[in-house]
Formats: sequence, C-alpha cells, structure tokens
Amino acid sequence: MPVITCIDDLKRLHRRRTPRMFYDYAESGSWTEQTFRENTSDFSRIRLRQRVAVDMSDRSLASEMIGQPVTMPVALAPVGLTGMQNADGEIKAARAAERFGVPFTLSTMSICSIEDVAEHTRKPFWFQLYTMKDEDYVRRLIQRAKDAKCSALVITLDLQLLGQRHKDLKNGLSAPPKLTASTLADLATKWAWGLEMLGTKRRGFGNIVGHVKGVSDTSQLGAWTAEQFDPRLDWKKIAEIKEMWGGPVILKGILDVEDAKKAAEVGADAIVVSNHGGRQLDGALSSIRMLDPILQAVGDRVEVHFDSGIRSGQDALKAIAMGAKGTYIGRAWVHGLGAMGEEGVTTALEVIRKEMDMTMALCGKRDIRDVGRDILLVPEGFSGNWQ
Ligand code: GLV
Repeated sequence: MPVITCIDDLKRLHRRRTPRMFYDYAESGSWTEQTFRENTSDFSRIRLRQRVAVDMSDRSLASEMIGQPVTMPVALAPVGLTGMQNADGEIKAARAAERFGVPFTLSTMSICSIEDVAEHTRKPFWFQLYTMKDEDYVRRLIQRAKDAKCSALVITLDLQLLGQRHKDLKNGLSAPPKLTASTLADLATKWAWGLEMLGTKRRGFGNIVGHVKGVSDTSQLGAWTAEQFDPRLDWKKIAEIKEMWGGPVILKGILDVEDAKKAAEVGADAIVVSNHGGRQLDGALSSIRMLDPILQAVGDRVEVHFDSGIRSGQDALKAIAMGAKGTYIGRAWVHGLGAMGEEGVTTALEVIRKEMDMTMALCGKRDIRDVGRDILLVPEGFSGNWQ
C-alpha cells in the first residue's frame, strides 16, 4: 500500500491508474489554462500567521453549510464523468462523504444516476443542475432530485456553453470511451480500471441516457452540451427554478460583484464564488482573488461559499479565514477516486482534514468557527485594482 501524505500523491496514482482521457478531463483548464493555474498559485501568495503559547487542545472543525451540520466545512463539488475515473465512482464518493460527514454534490453529468446514488446511500446528498433547452426534461430532473430526497439544489451558472479544453478534443473524450487504436493502447496499460469497468453496467451518462430527446450522441459531452444546454438562462429563469425546487438553493459560478448582488436578490441560500476550476472563461481572475470583494458586497445578505483552486486543507482554511462559510474540493477528491476508489476519496478527505486542523492549531485557533482574517497575511492589493 503506498504511503499517501498529500493530494499530490493521489494525483500521481490517479494518473497512473486511469485512462488518459479521463485523467486529462479532470486535470484540464480551458484554452491557455491561465485561470486554472492562477487558481492555485494565488493561494500560495496568501501566508499564515504563526502564533505560539496558546492552548491547542480539544480542537473542532465542525461547522454548518446552509444550516446543515458538517464535520468540516468542505463539500465534494459536482464533477462530471466521475464514474469513468473509477467504476461506480459517484456511488463510492457519496458513500465516502456520508461516512465522513460532509456533503456530496452529484453532477447532472454523472455516470451513476440520481436514483442509483440515492439507493446506495442513507443520508441526503446535494444535486447539481444544468439548465437545458428541454424544459420538460429539467422539470423531470428536478422532480427526480426531490424524489431522491436531495437536500439542496446547486445550480451552476457558468456553463451555458462548454469551455474548450484542448486535451478533451484531442483525446476524443466520451463515456464510455470509443475504442480506437490510441485508446486501446492506453487501456492496455490500465487493465485494473478496465476489469472494474467491465464489472459494472454504469458506463454512460446516467441522468441523461433514456431521459432526453433530440440528442444525437449522448456519449459525447461536447455534442450534447452544445445541443441541449440552455444559452438563454437568465435571473428570471433562475427564480423560476428556485420556485419549482422549493428547497435550499445554492448558486454556483459567481465571480463578479454585480452577479453576487443579483444572486442575493433572487434569494439564494448560498452562492459559490467559483470560476469552474478554470475550466470555463480562461483569463478570468482566480476565485480566491474575487472572494473578498464579493464578501464585502453581499456577505451580510447571503451565505458565501468558495471553490476553484483548493488542493490542501491549508487552502480550504485560507478561504474560510477570509470569510467563506464553506468550501468545495473537486480535483482533490477525484484524484483520490481515480487512485484508490472509495478508500481514495476517504483518504483525500483525511488529508484535507489533517492539514486544516494542524494549520488552524499552529495559527493559534481551536475552533473553525473562530477562524477569521486575523490568521492571514494577505499581500497588499491582493484582489487587485482592475479597471
Ligand atoms: C463540467 O462541469 C465540466 O467542467 O466539464
């Protein structure tokens, strides 16, 4: 058994064990990947304040996100195709999150369906919604999430069009993979993945196949997003979806103060400051740079969450210290899943928890709810003076 000390260890194993097209799908940003890179490099510009001679015993990371108790304020972000990183991946990740006591968010673009995940878990999970042109399909999808007792609807706002990730086009990304000479050559070195995949029936987009009309090829992410995603999504539609759902709503993909104000007006229970992990608008500012301005504008009106760029418990702690009430990891848990299945997701969560807990202690705090700006050293002009 390899010794895992950090998320990078899981990432290396993920790369070794999973077909290239799926590893690349997870590890890409759009176009030049500038935003993807800066999401992580900007985190390292924020430093921590070392404090000594304070009681560090009896520490707690327990908190709440949208009023729901969490053992640490780190949820599993919705990630597409995770059932291709490892057989039945969404079920495995949801179970790991449930045992750990943090929210799992199921993507619309998952391989395992809503019903499948509900059947294999005991606690409610969150469902992430993409709005589609086919309104009837959206209505049914929302009803399916309600029937499965999902406890929050996470509406993603920054993917009406799919950002171009060069590697996905070059690799011919699809679920299941098409068997070409180059995918076969790659799969030959990933036989354990292949054997597990042969043992499951879940190999297509579970929430889509058999549920949508008018999509020429549901195996091609690019094709069906282009055909189906609703380019006319606006605040009025968001309000209608909120009404249709009738439960807690989280709006994901807010990176601008004006949009944050609109999201607060629409009555979101929380917003997620996010640039989709650098996978959509390349050239946008990193998510961590935008967190403070958004908190200043709406932090007293709506719960503010954060994602994009978190690869360690230290990163998550920095976002919380800056004022976010909750954070999300995406690639970090997907690396765990691709590396070691369900156990890998648990390991990723344990790594994050340990880093967060020790860092909090060394900054002189015992309770995550007391962590604030005073533990951070933020360089002057960090959020920038952009005109
Ligand atoms: C989907 O959410 C993606 O980023 O590919």
